[in-house]
Amino acid sequence: MCGIVGYVGYRDCSEVLVSALTKLEYRGYDSAGIAVFDNNEIKVAKSKGRLADLVEKMKTDGKPEGVAGIGHTRWATHGEPSDVNSHPHSGAKVTIVHNGIIENYKELKKFLTDKGAKFLSDTDTEVVAKLLGYYYKLNPGKPLDTIVETIKELEGSFALGVVFQDFPDVVYAVRRESPLIVGVGKNESFIASDVPAILQYTKDYYLLEHDEIAKLDCNGVEIFDEHGKKLEKELLTADWDMDAAEKGGYPHFMIKEIHEQPSSIKTTITPRISNGLPDLKECSIDLEKLRKFKQIFIVACGTAMHAGMVGKYVIEKLARVSVTVDIASEFRYREPLISKGDLVIIISQSGETADSLAAMRLAKKLGASTLAIVNAKGSSIAREADMLIYTHAGPEIAVASTKAYIVQLAVMYLFAFDLALAKGMIDEAECKRLTSILQDMPSLIETILETELENTQYVSNQLITAESLLYIGRGLDYALSMEGSLKLKEISYIHSESYAAGELKHGTISLITKDMPVIAVATQSALLDKTVSNIKEVKARGAKVILIARDDFNVDEDAYDYIVRVPKTEDLFMPIPAAVPLQLIAYYTSVLRGNDVDKPRNLAKSVTVE
Ligand code: F6R
Repeated sequence: MCGIVGYVGYRDCSEVLVSALTKLEYRGYDSAGIAVFDNNEIKVAKSKGRLADLVEKMKTDGKPEGVAGIGHTRWATHGEPSDVNSHPHSGAKVTIVHNGIIENYKELKKFLTDKGAKFLSDTDTEVVAKLLGYYYKLNPGKPLDTIVETIKELEGSFALGVVFQDFPDVVYAVRRESPLIVGVGKNESFIASDVPAILQYTKDYYLLEHDEIAKLDCNGVEIFDEHGKKLEKELLTADWDMDAAEKGGYPHFMIKEIHEQPSSIKTTITPRISNGLPDLKECSIDLEKLRKFKQIFIVACGTAMHAGMVGKYVIEKLARVSVTVDIASEFRYREPLISKGDLVIIISQSGETADSLAAMRLAKKLGASTLAIVNAKGSSIAREADMLIYTHAGPEIAVASTKAYIVQLAVMYLFAFDLALAKGMIDEAECKRLTSILQDMPSLIETILETELENTQYVSNQLITAESLLYIGRGLDYALSMEGSLKLKEISYIHSESYAAGELKHGTISLITKDMPVIAVATQSALLDKTVSNIKEVKARGAKVILIARDDFNVDEDAYDYIVRVPKTEDLFMPIPAAVPLQLIAYYTSVLRGNDVDKPRNLAKSVTVE
């Protein structure tokens, strides 16, 4: 996690760095700092807290004045959030910002301490700064050679922005595992952990690959390989516009992104449908290939894993292929029984999640085919997968994922239809029918966004004093409950669990009291009676029940306290519209509790560490 930026050009560098960092705060926000060449000296300003705290501090202490520098917003890994642990960090004649984790930092620290180095912070980053300083002394006046030598010694992940005291107004950057782009404008250039940081200045960028080094100066950008040999690289153009990275009148990114869901689904599925049928050929997926897969594994983390849970139900139901859903951090260490002929699907918004990336590499090593479903263009998972379906949600800035989840679901459905067709489990007519229902999902979501905002606010009002609550459901409703529960707990800070409704009576029902609200999801007609029985069991024990139900279901009024209606579609598709009230309930509960909705405590958007 953490976000890094860098700038070389003609504008006020401190302002550019701060403004670019505001677009990366979703990656970490427990401290921030910048280093700028001010009258040929590297001047550092840094502070614990939000970027706004740094800005305030610079108002009092003065801000560095210059046209080139680097910046950082931190999500602490080594060393608590504090002024001294904030980036940038320095070694002899060198100052850096870093995103990632240096796994061998203890050995390197010992090596440097033995050579007389003194460390000010607890960070692994300072070790890199001192190591660069060490190699610079051995290669005086040669920054590129210094970086080449230094990265040979590093184990782990890093994206680094580096400035050398002897080379004013030049910024270097290098990456391994952690993401980094190099933006190219007119007479100015940038580095950034993610595209939104540079969109207000330029849409053109290079994607740095593993161990590539960039040099930015007044002549533009040069890129070198790990040995220092100059490379020619393709200049890419971002298809995201500035509005996508702004709140556009909404009070928070999360609610904006909830409202963007209909268009995100359309943009994601429309290009993958031709003649009414799924068409994933552009993603290197054809019926011939699909026919051959024996088992499927879906591997992901958090919300993306929950999308995989829905995917499992849909794929197994339609295509009759066995699907195992795994949490990536478990999968990678459990010696999974996969082999050639199996398909491993990795779902990831950021495409950089360390555990998901490692799981995918393991799957490849074991001979399985890999399919990545990824939102961030050019990310590591996207680049390394055998097959790739991009979700087109645009940049998701709120830490709590909403629109990325919805499009992950949409892709799961499209894939399931294609697979079911390939396996001969459905015919073309049925496949077309299912595909056209999927195409109706945006308008169902629009209806909910028109009718349920007040109702979900009202429900949230009932939850704000709760200390703990349960989400229950059966089948697809259970898969969806997992996501509803995660969404609520991560941004409202109310403890919450999801439970298979039929499993409650095997232990968990003992937790039920009048102080434990239960959110019951009931959208599956075949399971309605069973779920309603479970709801009555908790109601009888005093729980306040909030029911999320399909709008045509007739449920006894005394079985619930509040009801949120979800427009009817076929059972199989209900998780898509039903996700929206769950997102809204989480959102409003967080707002009503006065939390920082878009940047919940302790979290970061892109989890590039184990
Ligand atoms: C929760 C959330 C996380 C992510 C998880 C995986 O709202 O966003 O649970 O889903 O960290 O991230 P990606 O999808 O980037 O691999």
